[in-house]
Amino acid sequence: MNDKLFTLEQKIAEAQLGGGQQRIDAQHKKGKLTARERIHFLLDPGSFEEIGMLVQHRCRDFGMEQQHFLGDGVITGYGTIDGRLVYVFSQDFTVFGGSLSEAHAEKICKIMDLAMRNGAPMIGLNDSGGARIQEGVASLGGYADIFYRNVMASGVVPQISAIMGPCAGGAVYSPAMTDFIIMVEDTSYMFVTGPNVVKTVTNEDVTSEELGGASAHSTKSGVTHLTATNDIECLEKVRRLVSYMPQNCEEKPSLKPYDLTEEWREELRHIVPENANQPYDMRDVINGIVDEDSFMEIHEAFAENIVVGFARLAGRSIGVIANQPMNLAGVLDVNSSRKGARFVRFCDSFNIPLLVLVDVPGFLPGTDQEWNGIIVNGAKLLYAFSEATVPRITLITRKAYGGAYDVMNSKHIGADLNYAWPAAEIAVMGAKGASEIIFRKEIIEAEDPEAMLLQKEKEYQEAFAHPYQAAERGYIDEVIDPCLTRRKLIKAFASIENKVLHLPRKKHGNIPL
Ligand code: HXC
Repeated sequence: MNDKLFTLEQKIAEAQLGGGQQRIDAQHKKGKLTARERIHFLLDPGSFEEIGMLVQHRCRDFGMEQQHFLGDGVITGYGTIDGRLVYVFSQDFTVFGGSLSEAHAEKICKIMDLAMRNGAPMIGLNDSGGARIQEGVASLGGYADIFYRNVMASGVVPQISAIMGPCAGGAVYSPAMTDFIIMVEDTSYMFVTGPNVVKTVTNEDVTSEELGGASAHSTKSGVTHLTATNDIECLEKVRRLVSYMPQNCEEKPSLKPYDLTEEWREELRHIVPENANQPYDMRDVINGIVDEDSFMEIHEAFAENIVVGFARLAGRSIGVIANQPMNLAGVLDVNSSRKGARFVRFCDSFNIPLLVLVDVPGFLPGTDQEWNGIIVNGAKLLYAFSEATVPRITLITRKAYGGAYDVMNSKHIGADLNYAWPAAEIAVMGAKGASEIIFRKEIIEAEDPEAMLLQKEKEYQEAFAHPYQAAERGYIDEVIDPCLTRRKLIKAFASIENKVLHLPRKKHGNIPL
């Protein structure tokens, strides 16, 4: 028995070393943790159970029969985050550059299947040179097996991808189909074709970092939802992200006990400026409403005219979608609509109630927007809100103009409770634009057209620049003093927490993609 145990111990020790000490040192030198160290920082101490440690590739070409590393470049298994079960794979760059062989893919598929069957989040730590070049189509097939499972798991269990090294070629499509991507600055990149191919095809000179680094994908493409300055911060952010989610689509997010008090928030009375054209930071409103330090912003540097993120309200996990008057006056455009829609759909998939804060002057006009499809992209947000069956509450803090009023979780598209602050203005358009159209004749014929325009603007403003017409019709359920907002919302979310709403029977809807 002792001999047999010794053999087992030897194999475990071999597997722990991955591609060997030299390659581990090289990994550290790049400022990266090893695959095993990453799992250690991701999961609760001592909770990891490995599956498939002794798996090896089956390739016999290009001298591969001489080269074997136990585990074949990916560590897979399960463990806990804050005591909750999660499944994880962590690609080991020290073994064939973390490249994906048939056996490597099978390991990932196995734990994806387990995650699905057991209803627990799936977390992938990606650090890979892509398809194992020596294996050809077996490797491509392995990727497709993973892609298929990503799609099957979508909306069933939360899927999170951390990009902690290279991620190139078709390999990017697995992370792209998961719910959240987080990239480590300076050490990770994602692209379909690398700088060399770009140079050949388009003659552009671009570095990997410029083309597909964390900065490019967090500000320009919006591919990544979060970034981190190093591996440890990245893994901490994954842990935090998971804390807002339920285990699967059949469960609700955990609700921490909370004793309701007066919840008075004086500061909320002083955020919106008197002058309706002056910007303010909607994050101040969010932070004034939600539990202290509980707001985790997603897509922070992308489409900054809308703010989305998770928060807790009296211990309840909620998703917040808010126009941001500080950026482009909070207007809706192509990217902010896409960003908002994606977030709404995630929350709806996983039973996370929605809080929508509205201060929106409308949709952004212009050829750039029209030619880039503001019609279908704006429709995404409209569609996403309309089909969401989770509890949905709206608060209009200031402007709610035009089609954007409808889109931003209005009563008409299924919001459960709609509130407005007294400074709310709900109208088809701003007073100036409206007056120029409907009083054009009177303005042209007036002795002093400018004075007439001002007078008509004032009239229009008095008629519409308030929430009371909407409240008369019941489109707004209550106009509230800002300092009472937190208390109102805590009670309101509790009152609709058992909401049941079934969509009409269908195979699936056809969201304008
Ligand atoms: C097999 C690979 C590999 C791969 C790297 N290695 N990529 N082995 N298949 N795809 C091996 C290297 O031979 C090397 O082995 C070790 O991993 C580390 O690689 P280095 O090049 O020394 O590291 P580095 O300088 O950091 O460069 C990393 C890299 C580079 C940028 C990822 O290795 C690279 O460009 N690799 C090829 C990337 C690629 O073209 N992949 C295929 C993409 S197409 P030793 O023994 O020296 O340690 C694709 C299709 C997917 O993925 C389609 C899905 C639908």
